Amino acid sequence: MKDILGLAEEAARRAGRLAVSLLGKTVIEQKDSTYNLITEADLRSEDLIVDFLMREMPESEVLGEENHHEGKLAAERLWIIDPLDGTTNFAHAIPHFGVSIAYAEKGRLTAGTVYDPMRNELFSARAGHGAQCNGKHIHVSKSQRLSQSLIATGFYYDRSATMEKTLRALYWLYQEDIRCIRRMGAASLDLAWLACGRFDAYFEYTLSPWDFAAGLLIVLEAGGSASTIDGTPADLSAKGLICSNGRIHKKLLACVLKPKKF
Ligand code: IPD
Ligand code: CA
Ligand code: CA
Repeated sequence: MKDILGLAEEAARRAGRLAVSLLGKTVIEQKDSTYNLITEADLRSEDLIVDFLMREMPESEVLGEENHHEGKLAAERLWIIDPLDGTTNFAHAIPHFGVSIAYAEKGRLTAGTVYDPMRNELFSARAGHGAQCNGKHIHVSKSQRLSQSLIATGFYYDRSATMEKTLRALYWLYQEDIRCIRRMGAASLDLAWLACGRFDAYFEYTLSPWDFAAGLLIVLEAGGSASTIDGTPADLSAKGLICSNGRIHKKLLACVLKPKKF
């Protein structure tokens, strides 16, 4: 039997090395708006990962951010790939980006990896077997209160409803005396950093499965909680996420669910 997680990790490492080799040297283009960018690295990374995984497991399907939208979430065997998460950082030569690869069977996540090639940190999880960073077990933080919490968020490439909601939520979170907010620019790494206790929570209103699939499994396996924005348990069909160490989840949800005007 194939070592699914091992394949994902090998593909993520190869793609990460490729991205690093192109940092600061790649052509930047606009994807579907002036601020949603795409680079040569996004495309070459996806090709590399898909070629590798298809050679190893030709019977599987792919849902990849750039050119592989054919895989369905309920597929028998599905790879869910963000070949370069943090493209805006990458395009500005900011060394914070990742490669995210998850594997699901009939909609159930069984393995996932998020690789940060700049720090050489490989976060991974197998369903039911805990989460690891570079082979060492990781766990979410133990913060009990929002006032002890560092919270990560992200903005989808939207300048209207989603952005307004996010800004409102930030305002109400600050009223709860949170320690601070971070907007690092790579959702998969936000989730991985929540899983290892660097962040206490993360939320984002609009996400695609490739942004969060691997990170979601890693958070859950590290003992964290994950819900949709409505508070129902998160799965691959989620359109947005609220994730936390579990202890602060309810309070966080109250600020993020329907943030009032200020
Ligand atoms: C984006 C990043 C960002 C998040 C956006 C994502 P991309 O992914 O993860 O942090 O806020 O919602 O779309 O475009 O860099 O792969
Ligand atoms: Ca992404
Ligand atoms: Ca991407």
